Amino acid sequence: MRGDHTPGRGDEVSPPHSFTDDANAAAGVREAFAEEGLDAWSRAADLLAWDRPYETVVRDGDRLEWFAGGRLNASHNCLDRHLDERKSHVALRWEGTGGESRVYTYLDLHHEVNEAAAALRDIGVEAGDVVTCYAPVIPELVVTMLACARLGALHNVVFAGFSADELATRLRRTESSYLVTCDGYYRRGNAVTQLTTADNARMAVDHDVDPVVVERLDDDAVYLGDDHRRYADLLDDHRGETVEPVARDATDPLFVIYTSGTTGEPSRVTHTTGGYLAHVAWTGRAVLDIEPFDTHWCAADAAWITGHSYMVYAPLALGATTLLYEGAPDQPEKDRLWELVERHRVDTFYTASTAVRSFMKWGADHPDSHDLSSLRLLGMVGEPTDPEAWNWYWGHVGGKECPVVDTWWQTETGGILVSTLPGVDPMRPGSAGPAVPGVDVAVVDREGEPVADGDPGHLAVTTPWPGMSRSLAREAAGTDNGADDGWLYVTGDRAVRDGDGYVTFLGREDDTVTVGNTAFGPATLESAVIEVDAIAEAAVVESSEQGGTAVAYVCTERDHGGDDDLREEIGEHVGERLGPTARFGEIVFTPELPKTHSGKIMRRLLGAIADSEEYGDTSALRNPEIVGEIETVANDE
Ligand code: WT7
Repeated sequence: MRGDHTPGRGDEVSPPHSFTDDANAAAGVREAFAEEGLDAWSRAADLLAWDRPYETVVRDGDRLEWFAGGRLNASHNCLDRHLDERKSHVALRWEGTGGESRVYTYLDLHHEVNEAAAALRDIGVEAGDVVTCYAPVIPELVVTMLACARLGALHNVVFAGFSADELATRLRRTESSYLVTCDGYYRRGNAVTQLTTADNARMAVDHDVDPVVVERLDDDAVYLGDDHRRYADLLDDHRGETVEPVARDATDPLFVIYTSGTTGEPSRVTHTTGGYLAHVAWTGRAVLDIEPFDTHWCAADAAWITGHSYMVYAPLALGATTLLYEGAPDQPEKDRLWELVERHRVDTFYTASTAVRSFMKWGADHPDSHDLSSLRLLGMVGEPTDPEAWNWYWGHVGGKECPVVDTWWQTETGGILVSTLPGVDPMRPGSAGPAVPGVDVAVVDREGEPVADGDPGHLAVTTPWPGMSRSLAREAAGTDNGADDGWLYVTGDRAVRDGDGYVTFLGREDDTVTVGNTAFGPATLESAVIEVDAIAEAAVVESSEQGGTAVAYVCTERDHGGDDDLREEIGEHVGERLGPTARFGEIVFTPELPKTHSGKIMRRLLGAIADSEEYGDTSALRNPEIVGEIETVANDE
């Protein structure tokens, strides 16, 4: 990469020397992993404090047992063990809506987690119990998660915007008898009551659910009944108490979480204490380059796996400051994130790939008007990234001085599996990169046979990894540590791998758009649409009603409107890029795409609109109001 040429697909960009000179992951790490095989993961375990050392890196039994024989406690790893070195260092910095903020040092957080653990124990929570948390990104949520971990209880965090039905299902399926929630919260300046929804869910399940309520709303807007325990009172009753962290087997569950359900039914995933924590700590260090004393900002909701892994467990296990933020990136203004990066001198920043596209749409003057020079690394996750978004992020947010890591993983994988190592590997805009050291992936056909390099297919992981969910660890058992060709984990994503092992993601299998006889990954079509000037974002879905045609939902950049000329231009450009099969039955302009709180485009819902079908519950959306608007525009066409 030289001069002012904008790197495109296939180009390589070297991470800057200013970064690689001090990066956590240095040259040689891939070779070391290749040489040592699965034992190399002891490096990850070495980042943790063990109450009893593990006997073997991975043992094959009923399930693959990572760090078998070892005992540890996650709350101890995130708090107690840091007290000698950094008790007064900020562990958690919270920015709420409406200008509120709070700061917890490691000592403060240690106190509050101990008190919360004492309180939960007092109301009956024991090791192995499931405590459901139904709250927005507030410090009490993190405190509760760590208090559960301290007791060996499992947290089950449910996104605050979910309906009573969804909460009830999750309470029922996890047989959870404890609920930590709040009276309400503020969203875009308006108070939203949460307790009524929580109570409706409690009433809808057959077993008793004991509620603890964090009071968030200013006044007594929400009435707390006799059966509601106040979080603040409970903690007061246990002021100054300490709770010995309960040592857990490395393979014991740490928490349960439901998959986001943007495609298919949400399913329950359970993560382990040792393998999971080691995996997120190692990747937090090597991929996100988090160092002790860094301010790390994962701008996600705590309720999804990204929040668990890289907002709570990785940064705190590594002794960094984690920045938590409640609210919307365009509130009060569209420069909210950059204002916070500047104010808190954020070092490492991690966000959803689709968020980057929104930032582009809002315009570069927002990041350009802030001093973002504290940033050292930029990460993204959640959806395939096109080179244009990559370049925008690299240039306008990182000033071409911060490596950009495009990290691929899933709720089931616990932590990052595919990404460049920012201190080692060159970056290729639009491609996530090779698998992380210790992990092998392949692109396979329907029969599970590898396809040729450069051919599209299904992405499979062919080696086990420490952060694998407990059910994957069960599936991989008895296959000689996954090494006898018998086991592969087919991920549900379509991808292409090139000769150097770099993986380019094409989107979810369930979202495949078949036009005529050609199957396109949505990302392939979308990235071609986005190449057209004035287009900021696009989602392409298949419409079965119209006999297998593609429908494109398109957002234009600020100051541009959508009209028939632009439709024609899009059609022509995409045809040129991808051939005559790549044609759209319809192109619909919309101000926004429907996105979940985890930043995913709800293509399933757009597909339903295209087919004039019922699209069901929209409570998982960050912007549910857009659905009616899209429907109106789509029907007007
Ligand atoms: C699905 C998993 C990973 C935590 C966040 C979501 C998609 C994720 C990327 C990426 C292309 C990506 C995949 C995957 N995905 N990261 N960098 N490039 N696609 O967890 O809700 O379980 O979603 O997100 O389709 O399967 P999740």
